[in-house]
Amino acid sequence: MSNKNKTLGEFIIENQNDFQYSSGELSRIINSIRLAAKVVNYKVNKAGLVDIVGAVGEQNIQGEDQQKLDVYANEVFIQTLINREIVCGIASEENDDFITIEGSDKSNSNKYVVLMDPLDGSSNIDVNVSVGTIFSVYRRITPLGTPVTLADFLQPGVNQVAAGYVIYGTSTMLVYTTGHGVNGFTLNPAIGTFYLSHPNMRFPENGSIYSVNEGNYRQFPQGVKDYIKYCQMEEEDRPYTSRYIGSLVSDIHRNMIKGGIYLYPTSSKSPKGKLRLLYECNPLAFVVEQAGGKASDGKNRIMELQPTELHQRIPFFCGSKNMVDTLEKFML
Ligand code: AHG
Ligand code: MN
Ligand code: MN
Repeated sequence: MSNKNKTLGEFIIENQNDFQYSSGELSRIINSIRLAAKVVNYKVNKAGLVDIVGAVGEQNIQGEDQQKLDVYANEVFIQTLINREIVCGIASEENDDFITIEGSDKSNSNKYVVLMDPLDGSSNIDVNVSVGTIFSVYRRITPLGTPVTLADFLQPGVNQVAAGYVIYGTSTMLVYTTGHGVNGFTLNPAIGTFYLSHPNMRFPENGSIYSVNEGNYRQFPQGVKDYIKYCQMEEEDRPYTSRYIGSLVSDIHRNMIKGGIYLYPTSSKSPKGKLRLLYECNPLAFVVEQAGGKASDGKNRIMELQPTELHQRIPFFCGSKNMVDTLEKFML
C-alpha cells in the first residue's frame, strides 16, 4: 500500500514484524497511546471553554470535577494502559513513584514498562500555545510475572524499544519511532483518525535556529554563553534565528522540520538542568537520533547515561547533528 491515506492503525499492523520480539504487545501499547492522545486532544482543544461551560466551584456542567490538564492527561494515559493490561509498570513525571500493574490474575506477564511526561509545556495551556505528551517504552529487566522494580525504569535510553511524542498544536500529531526511523501522523479531528503525514522524518544536518531561554543567560556555563554569542555572530550563515516556545515538544518538533538546536543548560536556578532524563530527554533523544539528529548533555550522548533516579534532571542539547557537534566543542 502506498503511504497516501495510510492511517496509524494500518501502519502499526504493517510494521509489527519490525519488532525483534514481536508478539503484538508493543503494537497494542502504541495503539493505546493513540487512543489516549485522542482523548487528551479533545480536552486540550476546549481548554479555554472550561470556565465558560463549567458551573461555579469545582465541578463542570456535567458534574465532573475540574482538573488541571496535566493531572487529567496523566490519568487518561495511565488508565488507558492499565485497562488494557498491556504493561507491567508505568512511571510518570506527575507521580512521585512508579506504578506497579498487576494483571487480573494478580501476576503480570507483560514485558514492557512505559515512562511518560503526560503534558509537557502545561503552563502554555492558559495562553493557547501548543503542548505535548512524551512517552518511552522499555522491556523490563526483572523476571516476568514478578512485580516491577526501580531497576526496570532506570535503564539507559539506548534500551528504549519505542518512544515518541504527541503535539497538540495547530494540528495534532503523533510522532514516534521503534528504532526504524521516525514517522509522523496528523489527526483528522473530524473523524478522529491519525494519517501518516510525515513518513520517514529526517532532522536536517545543519540548521539556523537556536532555541534557549535566554532570560537565564547570565547563569549559563561559559561554554553555552560562548556558543550563544557564536549563534549571534555575523559570519557565513549567521546570525541564526532565535525561536523559543517554552514547550519542549513544540520546540524540538519545529527544529526537526526546519533544522536547529535546542538548549536547556544548567543554571544557578536549575543547577542540574531542568529537563527530566527519563520522561523528556531520553524519549526525545531516541526520536531525534532516529531522524539523524543528535542529543547530548554537553559532553555525553544522552541515551548512554545511566539514570540514578526516576525524576533525575539533566542539561539537554538536542538538534541538528552539526550544530550539536559545534556546541560540544564549546563545552570542552
Ligand atoms: P512541564 O510542563 O512538563 O513541566 O515541562 C516544561 C518544560 C518544557 O516543556 C519547556 O521546554 C521548559 O520546561 C521551559 O522551561 P523555562 O520556562 O524554564 O524556559
Ligand atoms: Mn515536560
Ligand atoms: Mn509535564
